[in-house]
Amino acid sequence: MLSAKSAEVIEATLPVVGAAIGDITPRFYDRLFAAHPALLRDLFNRGNQANGTQREALAGSIAAFATALIAHPDQRPDAMLARIAHKHVSVGITDAQYAIVHEHLFAAIVEVLGEAVTPEVAAAWDEVYWLMANALIAVEGRLRAEAAAGGDPAGLWRPYTVVTRYQETEAVTTFVVRPADGGPLPASRPGQYVSVRVELADGAHQIRQYSLSGGADGALRFSVKREPGGEVSGHLHDHLRTGDTVELAPPLGDVSLAEGDGPVLLASAGIGNTPMTAMLDHLATAGSTRRIVSVHGDRDQLSHAFRADLEQLTAKLPDAVAHVFYERPLGEWPAERTGLVDLSTIEVPAGTTAYLCGPLPFLKSVREQLLAAGVRAADIHYEVFGPDLWLV
Ligand SMILES: Cc1cc2nc3c(=O)[nH]c(=O)nc-3n(C[C@H](O)[C@H](O)[C@H](O)COP(=O)(O)OP(=O)(O)OC[C@H]3O[C@@H](n4cnc5c(N)ncnc54)[C@H](O)[C@@H]3O)c2cc1C
Ligand code: HEM
Repeated sequence: MLSAKSAEVIEATLPVVGAAIGDITPRFYDRLFAAHPALLRDLFNRGNQANGTQREALAGSIAAFATALIAHPDQRPDAMLARIAHKHVSVGITDAQYAIVHEHLFAAIVEVLGEAVTPEVAAAWDEVYWLMANALIAVEGRLRAEAAAGGDPAGLWRPYTVVTRYQETEAVTTFVVRPADGGPLPASRPGQYVSVRVELADGAHQIRQYSLSGGADGALRFSVKREPGGEVSGHLHDHLRTGDTVELAPPLGDVSLAEGDGPVLLASAGIGNTPMTAMLDHLATAGSTRRIVSVHGDRDQLSHAFRADLEQLTAKLPDAVAHVFYERPLGEWPAERTGLVDLSTIEVPAGTTAYLCGPLPFLKSVREQLLAAGVRAADIHYEVFGPDLWLV
């Protein structure tokens, strides 16, 4: 895919660009937002900009893409592209914006690397950028077409009415919403998320993703944990009431429960159980006879959202078990289920497909435990509630 001439140049300059990428990305974003302030106000997640995670994810993805192209010039790292493309479509990136990003990214590269960017070097990296951009544009076009075919033909943002809201725990509120136009629900797969767009007190529009948490007949259900100092989660908790309208993008996300009849393991920690609850709900509604192991970790019984859902859905399934770990359990609780999630006392069936969602240290630990238990790396899927830094 990458021309032989460019491949040589990329291979030779990858170490230099890789080493400088931490300097390039802040300059790129500063340039981009100086030229287009509305992008930071209304499109990018300004929390992720402030804490630097999005910057790291973008830089890491381009370096990883270039590295993959060098290693396998004829293949495209599709899994990585799919994750980015789902996120892009969900926030409304347009094809035309790729030229804007290109302009400011390459200006930042020249600013940092100076004369090292010969015309030959610039041309080779240009080729990498457009290979990646055009691949993303193609996948994003397909996803938009699918979303339109699945019942969301009227553009990305559709108003929904809040039918009800209730507390799951002190920090987690569930919202059940229906299309305000009375039309059909969009298609979704268990494990997918919706983007929610709100207008904040300073007039900025900010977008965040919330996984669908299943359990809502004829409606969409999502559940939001209030983050300390969090702009959108705080806004939804404080201002979005029953009867109000909220804008949602159609369900997207590359991590969803695959059909099949093999064993499934669902592992989550904290609020990471929203997609797992949707998957379990789907399996229970479908009357699945698959072998299902749910594993969840939380601080204690009071902070554990969807406790009742986990018990009821597990009871409905003929071959399902649930194991819950509490770090600081309240009252009597088995010693072997106290502390962080530990799979050593849990039987992981051969041929298991695993779905994971939770903070990064949890994902890393559970992934290692699953590999040690014999689960194939290709059968471990994970969702992260932020930019995917595992790409780096
Ligand atoms: C695919 C996906 C699915 C998700 N599903 C769910 C879900 O089901 N339920 C759920 O509750 N969440 C979910 N999330 C997370 C959600 O999208 C938000 O990230 C979360 O609600 C926090 O957003 P916020 O606007 O409240 O916080 P933000 O304002 O974005 O802040 C996030 C954190 O950064 C800190 N921060 C903000 N500004 C600064 C600064 N200037 N300097 C340093 N730190 C700062 C804040 O204190 C806070 O702790 C999901 C995310 C993704 C990507
Ligand atoms: C080849 C070009 C691009 C690459 C490699 C790229 C890479 C990425 C990556 C890795 C993520 C994080 C995905 C995740 O959640 O794990 C992301 C998200 C995002 N990208 Fe891009 N991107 C590109 C082009 C663009 C363009 C053209 C825009 C529009 C101006 C854009 C805007 C965004 C936004 C708004 C997010 C959501 C995350 C957030 O706001 O924090 N990207 N991109």
